[in-house]
Amino acid sequence: MQTLTNLTAPMKLNNGVEIPGLGFGTYQTPADVTYDVVTEALKAGYRHIDTAFLYGNETGVGQAIKDSGLKREDVFVTSKLWNTDRGYDETMAAFEKTMANLGLDYLDLYLIHWPANHKQFGDQADQINADTWRAFEDLYKAGKIKAIGVSNFMPNHLESLLANCEIKPMVNQIEVHPGWPQTEAINYCQRHDILVEAWAPLGEAASLNNDVIKTIAAKYDHTPAQVCLRWGIQQGILPLPKSVHADWIQQNTNIFDFELTADEMDQIGALRNLGGQCKVPDQVDF
Ligand SMILES: NC(=O)c1ccc[n+]([C@@H]2O[C@H](COP(=O)([O-])OP(=O)(O)OC[C@H]3O[C@@H](n4cnc5c(N)ncnc54)[C@H](OP(=O)(O)O)[C@@H]3O)[C@@H](O)[C@H]2O)c1
Repeated sequence: MQTLTNLTAPMKLNNGVEIPGLGFGTYQTPADVTYDVVTEALKAGYRHIDTAFLYGNETGVGQAIKDSGLKREDVFVTSKLWNTDRGYDETMAAFEKTMANLGLDYLDLYLIHWPANHKQFGDQADQINADTWRAFEDLYKAGKIKAIGVSNFMPNHLESLLANCEIKPMVNQIEVHPGWPQTEAINYCQRHDILVEAWAPLGEAASLNNDVIKTIAAKYDHTPAQVCLRWGIQQGILPLPKSVHADWIQQNTNIFDFELTADEMDQIGALRNLGGQCKVPDQVDF
């Protein structure tokens, strides 16, 4: 199992592309502060920024990267296809919009944001996901994207995609945090050499008030947020913490100087109902 060993140590995707360390999240980061927040994150040492068309802040992400003075190839950028743009032609058009927003020549990682599910699309769901994925494969083959993946795909969605695809996803970005461990989905992805990224790795801050996590944090003289991120990393997961506060942006990078014991990993893994979204992709209506 690969694990992160420092802020920018790369993990290797199944196509050989390297993904540099901890990612920086930007969901709910308002467009008008995104430039400053991403600039702050790059100064703090993050080299991996996660955005999406849905977030409405791709422009600020791209501009901050361009103005950072860093070489394009030294920053890894992820964006995601929103649910209203599923399908082959729609995906092609949506990708162009995302690239225009970012103002970049290529994208490092493009993800299908959510699978089409049977609740909304009945028998058509798998075909919609396959058509969308075919567009992803063509964009990848054309060299416009370095890696392609999915988000919020559970084993049943992946099973269907893997049965029909030419190129298998390199990443699955799913909700993982203390209280919502997603063990089955993580094991499935790791068995298929698909890197798991954790969204809401702090449970949108809801995991930080738990007494088990607080006690462990005090033992290591670290914070509950750092313990949540460490718990992810020690499972071979790549977390994407988000913050708009400079001190927290920095704090969330300082997670490589302590190690949780197996017992502490189990204690955190056994927690339930701490909050966060805890979304079930087959049940969502969007
Ligand atoms: N693929 C998907 O469907 C999906 C869905 C959701 C999110 N994501 C991605 O995953 C990223 C992370 O998820 P998230 O933003 O939902 O939740 P998160 O990272 O778990 O939590 C963010 C919240 O925690 C607070 N926080 C951050 N660091 C802290 C610290 N050290 N101490 C105390 N509080 C702290 C933040 O505050 P401030 O912001 O006020 O500083 C914010 O309220 C997103 O930004 C996005 O890039 C993907």
